[in-house]
Amino acid sequence: MIDLVEATKKYDAGPPALAGVTLSVAAGECLAVLGHSGSGKSTLLNLIAGLDRPSSGTVTVDGTRVDRLGEAGSARFRRASIGMVFQFFNLLDDLTVLDNVLVPAQLAGMAKAEARRRSAELLGALGIDRHAKAYPQRLSGGERQRVAVARALMNRPALLLADEPTGALDSHSAADVRQLLLDLNAEGQTILLVTHDVELAASTAHRTIELVDGAVVRDIDNGTGAQARRTATAGGPGWDDEIGAARGSAPVRSAFQATGPTGAAGTAGAPSTPGTPGALR
Ligand SMILES: Nc1ncnc2c1ncn2[C@@H]1O[C@H](COP(=O)(O)OP(=O)(O)OP(=O)(O)O)[C@@H](O)[C@H]1O
Ligand SMILES: [Mg+2]
Repeated sequence: MIDLVEATKKYDAGPPALAGVTLSVAAGECLAVLGHSGSGKSTLLNLIAGLDRPSSGTVTVDGTRVDRLGEAGSARFRRASIGMVFQFFNLLDDLTVLDNVLVPAQLAGMAKAEARRRSAELLGALGIDRHAKAYPQRLSGGERQRVAVARALMNRPALLLADEPTGALDSHSAADVRQLLLDLNAEGQTILLVTHDVELAASTAHRTIELVDGAVVRDIDNGTGAQARRTATAGGPGWDDEIGAARGSAPVRSAFQATGPTGAAGTAGAPSTPGTPGALR
């Protein structure tokens, strides 16, 4: 899904922000990127999203050579293939929740009926449908981040990029967002998660890389938890019974189950907007 070969980013002066990064991320994987402030995490995200170009090396995402795209091409690529979630939500405060979620669909020229259907599906599955007509400022941080996730998923991106998505949240909301990422990944969503939080990385991602001065200094498999998630991704019956029970079920989670790919779970606690199988993807 993501392939970087010797990707380097140099700004005018000083050492490179990214120094010869070679990295492959498979479809369906959740990769966490750790590193101190200034280590190059956002630079890496920007190259992958086509927001910036490498000084040398190649960046391929979802079959597209992102480093070769011009401005219009890279905007098109982002609309079609990338969903982004940020620490401070970046919602438009003078649009309602629903209108925020609809923005990517409008930019992509999605038919109105389809956009309405998709947004209702997402708001329902993420448990924020009752806030559809509210303005973001009225919502809690956790709710705002769920709106941001709904917006990021609107066009069914191949890749979800999250830059410190729990950085501005209290621990309860952060746990909700973490669960949301786990559930999305269990449905097959490829995720790249930038975080300072070692525990969030270990408990959410299959794999963690660490950047120091723009270079990958560690690349570790997160072990048994990752194995459990892979089973879940395969749609095995173990997900609901074993992992779900062990983790408890947050409201967001039950909403996800109702729209999950197996379609087996979640008559109980179903969202008010009935989902279709795989609605979130
Ligand atoms: N537009 C730019 N012009 C010049 N230097 C830049 C630019 N953007 C980033 N840098 C530099 O590149 C390095 C990496 O920055 P980057 O934003 O990728 O770090 P980060 O790991 O995301 O940090 P943080 O955790 O604080 O967000 C830093 O030294 C930064 O000052
Ligand atoms: Mg950053």
